[in-house]
Amino acid sequence: MTTESTESQGQRLPTPQSETEKIAAIRNELPVTARYLYFNAGTNGPLPRRSHDALVASSALELDEGRISHTAFTRLFQNLDDTRSSVATLLQCDPAEIALTHNTTEGMNIAIMGLRWQQGDEIITSVAEHPGGLYPAYLLHQRYGVKVRQTEIALPGRDPVEELRKALSPRTKAVVLSHVSWATGMVLPVRELADLAHSVGALFICDAAQSAGMVPSNVYELGVDAYACSGQKWLCGPDGTGALFVRRERWGDIQQTFIGFFGIQFGMSDHDGNYVPADTARRYDVSTVYPGGLRALRESLRWIGEDIGWDWAYRRIATLGRYCYEALATLDGVTMMTPRDQMAGLLHFRVEGIAPPELTEKLGASGILIRDTHDPDANRISTGFYNTEAEIDRLRDAIEQIQATR
Ligand SMILES: Cc1ncc(COP(=O)(O)O)c(C=O)c1O
Repeated sequence: MTTESTESQGQRLPTPQSETEKIAAIRNELPVTARYLYFNAGTNGPLPRRSHDALVASSALELDEGRISHTAFTRLFQNLDDTRSSVATLLQCDPAEIALTHNTTEGMNIAIMGLRWQQGDEIITSVAEHPGGLYPAYLLHQRYGVKVRQTEIALPGRDPVEELRKALSPRTKAVVLSHVSWATGMVLPVRELADLAHSVGALFICDAAQSAGMVPSNVYELGVDAYACSGQKWLCGPDGTGALFVRRERWGDIQQTFIGFFGIQFGMSDHDGNYVPADTARRYDVSTVYPGGLRALRESLRWIGEDIGWDWAYRRIATLGRYCYEALATLDGVTMMTPRDQMAGLLHFRVEGIAPPELTEKLGASGILIRDTHDPDANRISTGFYNTEAEIDRLRDAIEQIQATR
């Protein structure tokens, strides 16, 4: 944030804000944060007012103008292009490498199914993966006899790189892992893992549901071949929005599994079924996405990227994550499960003698929203850039009180 109030060349610079004012302004844009202690961006982030307004405005336009005029279609195509560009800004890649999806799971399916699988090929993943990336691997096993190797990568106490090194073989065709594990909160060293996968000729397909918007996601630096994101979690977008990055050099390896209007290069097909795929990652778009959802997602991305600043948001998320770790770690009977030096905004812990679903419910009854997860059983907190230290103190006190009443 600039702290100087100046005017240059007739342009008014933004009014200076202290850190406290900035956080207050952020929270004002997220009305739900006034109602709850909102600690669950890992499931769904809070919706900003402006994204809500974009949804309403889009709907009003459809109501008044209809959806079939030339203007409506021009607007839709522009909307699709603009959304690819917004996501590309977040992931720091070429917009041509972005496909638009409805969620992370769709992106994971598109990337994983796209390889030319044969019986005996291997896919390496982890017991800490979400079904959104794991079940497509199971499907490959059922359909083609692909061997699924579920390692302990992303479990606390394991060295992810060593675990992957042990599991790799000449038959490994893809490594499928999350950048941030939903089950343990661990941030994986994706670059090292991707390099290792590439050393045996395998692709690295990354589930970014928990990382996009939580930690820096420069896909070229990460070295991933595919990176599947959700709009509704850390990006604070609406449901039904998502994106898939596929590295240009991999378009030949990742075939289309679904194909729709955008899948073929205009005019490049014949009646025998021969065609040339679209010349960008648009080829992976299944079809259109709800226009209001795209507009709202862009509003969220623009707000966080331009008004708040991604670097500030990433720093704040990690700072609050550590603050929360320290706050809970001092409580008797609390076991921290996410390793302190391998975390950012997801924090898993257990409270002795209280089943995780019971703790979620009890906190929920007093307006504190967290969640519980399984395998390993735990409670999970997401620290968003909009949370405050005072909220974390209240969370800690509430857990202490629940312990005291047992
Ligand atoms: C790591 C991970 N992958 C995938 C998903 C599924 O996301 P979506 O509903 O966008 O498909 C989630 C949701 O919690 C998740 O945490």
